[in-house]
Amino acid sequence: MGHKLVWQGGTVLGPLPLVLVTSRGPDGRANLMTAAWCGIVCTKPPMLSVSIRPERLTAEYVDASGEFGLNLVAADMVRQADWCGVKSGREYDKFAECGLTALPASKISAPLVGESPLSLECTVRERLVLGSHILYIAAIEAVQVDADLVDSSGALDMGRAGLAAWCHGQYHSIGEDLGYFGFSVRRRSRIRRERRV
Ligand SMILES: Cc1cc2nc3c(=O)[nH]c(=O)nc-3n(C[C@H](O)[C@H](O)[C@H](O)COP(=O)(O)O)c2cc1C
Repeated sequence: MGHKLVWQGGTVLGPLPLVLVTSRGPDGRANLMTAAWCGIVCTKPPMLSVSIRPERLTAEYVDASGEFGLNLVAADMVRQADWCGVKSGREYDKFAECGLTALPASKISAPLVGESPLSLECTVRERLVLGSHILYIAAIEAVQVDADLVDSSGALDMGRAGLAAWCHGQYHSIGEDLGYFGFSVRRRSRIRRERRV
């Protein structure tokens, strides 16, 4: 184990999901912005959080509508995601500029990103002003997933989505598959079974 350096508190947590937050303004305009300050916060009911600075056009649209879409970013979408993370919808029609497709959602008025492998349709339940960011806690009302990622038994294989992640100022592709949920226990019991034979 190496020698540790002690730094003052900071946002050095990663990897984080890389997402595009989609929203629709009161005038009907669609917008999208890149976000990484997000995560799942509850299983039942399914809920997630995303933190957005109040000065973003997205925060204005989410506050007005109480809804947003959260669209996962695949590695081949990273250039567009980076652009959507430095340009504001106040100056650009970001869907048009990026060549991304605005798809209708099933439960919310905000559009979803057609090119995204998986999108979550969200309605805001809690809004907390934390400091620089507003924390939105939202219910996940529906999920739209690329049918190519679902096998004939209905199982979702996210390993094939080629997702990107955000880690301390850098974009990364998700690498090697290291195991499935519970594999450590399964392997032990399999070894035990093998020993018994
Ligand atoms: C990788 C990346 C992650 C980002 N994460 C967030 C975030 O979690 N919250 C936030 O408010 N802004 C975040 N941003 C910045 C916004 O995406 C950016 O300010 C954007 O231009 C806002 O667009 P809008 O004004 O159209 O809403 C991120 C930018 C990048 C490139």
